[in-house]
Amino acid sequence: MRSTQAGLAAAAATRRRFLTVTGTAAALALTGALPGIRSAHAASAVNVDRQPLFTLGIASGDPLPDAVVIWTRLAPEPLAPFGGMDQRPVTVQWQVAEDEAFHRVVRRGTATARPEYSHTVHVDVQGLRPWRHYFYRFRVGGQISPVGRTRTAPAPGDAISAMSFAFASCQAWFEGYYTALADMARRDHDVILFLGDYIYEFGADKGVRPDSGDPHAMRQTVTLDDYRERYALYKIDPDLQAAHAAAPWIVTLDDHEVVDNWADEAHPSAPPASFLVRRANAFRAYWEHMPLRLSQLPNGPDMQLYRRLRYGTLAEFSILDTRQYRSDQAGGDGEKPPNPGSLDPSRTITGEEQERWLLDGLAASGTRWNVIGQQNAMAQLDVKAGPDMVVPMDTWDGYVGSRNRVLGGAHERGVKNLVSLGGDLHRSVASDLKLDFADPASPTVGTEFVGTSITSGLDGADHDQVGLTLLAENPHIKYHNFQRGYVTCTVTEQEWTADYRVADRVTTPGGTVTTRAQLVVEDGRAGIQTT
Ligand SMILES: [Fe+2]
Repeated sequence: MRSTQAGLAAAAATRRRFLTVTGTAAALALTGALPGIRSAHAASAVNVDRQPLFTLGIASGDPLPDAVVIWTRLAPEPLAPFGGMDQRPVTVQWQVAEDEAFHRVVRRGTATARPEYSHTVHVDVQGLRPWRHYFYRFRVGGQISPVGRTRTAPAPGDAISAMSFAFASCQAWFEGYYTALADMARRDHDVILFLGDYIYEFGADKGVRPDSGDPHAMRQTVTLDDYRERYALYKIDPDLQAAHAAAPWIVTLDDHEVVDNWADEAHPSAPPASFLVRRANAFRAYWEHMPLRLSQLPNGPDMQLYRRLRYGTLAEFSILDTRQYRSDQAGGDGEKPPNPGSLDPSRTITGEEQERWLLDGLAASGTRWNVIGQQNAMAQLDVKAGPDMVVPMDTWDGYVGSRNRVLGGAHERGVKNLVSLGGDLHRSVASDLKLDFADPASPTVGTEFVGTSITSGLDGADHDQVGLTLLAENPHIKYHNFQRGYVTCTVTEQEWTADYRVADRVTTPGGTVTTRAQLVVEDGRAGIQTT
């Protein structure tokens, strides 16, 4: 709808070409016809036998009962322009096996790593069996990638008895070591949700890592190559690579994958026409570096990111995009008393279409648990001590109409076991979701688990003043912590258990991660169990 500029039209043309190429790769995969180790394309200037290519690891994502996306990028010099590759396509072989030693290979094929996509590879591996572990790897010339482990989703009608997943967000590279991701990688999760701030766009001139002063980290990302380089910088980290290798990821983005607190076409840094070019750059680099399907490939500044993933009859995940369609923050953003803007029902955090899609999906799921994976806190967060109320304008508090429509709409439709997962706050907050937050006696219609950051905000503390105020002013908040970490959820038909995994420190290596709190939601009883 906005692709009127020549550059964006060119992006659309590239997209059509890429679809054709990927179709060819998929056909090759199905025939099983493998070229020799050295394909014609490998005649590139990159010496595939001498320069390490798989420096940014591998990943998998968006598992379906019969398919999963596997990802890698070829980058012999990850922080150099084009990752050190020249501008020619390279053929990449891939394999998916039932065992880690690759004795039982069940799917194999070739894909083309194209310079237009910074030599990333996204293979939508089809024909897999539901609810199975698989192992995958890539090969170019004599080089074989690290091995990743993934897992398909159960068949839609399959009544699996339990699933385990992790969710996390906010991994500012310069603010800490990925201790929490290393812990996540060591534990057994069927899937990992990442709810935004995979990168931070702003330049940081200092940080806790020895190489924080690297000029690559100090630049604000604006151009496509800037964003690509930032993903490379983050993905060099071995703990992040290990977390990707351990389980498939389901990702959505928040603000910092583009720029702090952007809203639809609006950001104070630039007029909409310029901002949309930056957004197109950011989206393109995001898609390139995430294990996402072609259905998520951006068309210029537009990307279809909200989507559903189902785990049998146990749970359905509605993954939201609360940035791309939202009204501009009310009252000039920041923390404000509720105001005519934040209370205006015509304003939206999801956009009308996504809101309808969400409510329709929640009503129709038929699953035991109905999960919303999104970016921001949905519960009311009064951060001012005393009778006056001050709330963030960037969270659902700044979009009260949206909150009322989603929570009220879910309640009206009889949606059972609604659980929202969020991030962005850089603190752990677990809340009962109330039909009317002004009235503590109003029905609890769902449960919210907001995870803290992986690193953003440095080490933190058990509580800070903001956290103590949150607990005092908001009776629906049942748990708070201001350290770094992530959350593991174990879900059965009877109950949902959320383990808040907390790192004692992230600003120096070797921190310890332990379960700080274990919170339970019972089937049929919205809200956090307090007894
Ligand atoms: Fe963040």
